[in-house]
Amino acid sequence: MIDKKKINKAADPAHLTELEKEHVPVIEAPELVLTEQPFTVKVTVPHVMEQAHYIEWIKLSMRGRQLGEVKFSLSDTSAVAEFTVTIPEEVVAMKALEVCNIHGVNVCGDCGTKSVFTDLIALVGCNVHGLWEGFKHIEIMSKVQSTGKPCKWKD
Ligand SMILES: [Fe+2]
Repeated sequence: MIDKKKINKAADPAHLTELEKEHVPVIEAPELVLTEQPFTVKVTVPHVMEQAHYIEWIKLSMRGRQLGEVKFSLSDTSAVAEFTVTIPEEVVAMKALEVCNIHGVNVCGDCGTKSVFTDLIALVGCNVHGLWEGFKHIEIMSKVQSTGKPCKWKD
């Protein structure tokens, strides 16, 4: 198990230090995804890949659920990983994810479609500087939609 106390994070994401710029992973993913529909998550670490100092691996997870892992070798010239992620419908149905702090799980008043929020979390291992974490907030909507109209979230 990974000791969470040893994971480095950006102290102030708007003003990264040089060390943070080289290690905090940048996550590219859609802001809104549908359950059961595969989407691509690209994770980039702008770090050197040299024999004495390199990124060993990148892991992607969501609320403790591992979504994928890419290991790098010394022949890799950049630390970039692409993951194809599919979120099962029961994640939304079970309300297993973080919900809006004001509205709870968003439920469309017209069609009953549900939407929840979560963070994609990328964890990076540098052989010299240890563990680094970055995240991206995304919205997950149930693919079950019935009316074809834009959803109206209840207040
Ligand atoms: Fe490093």
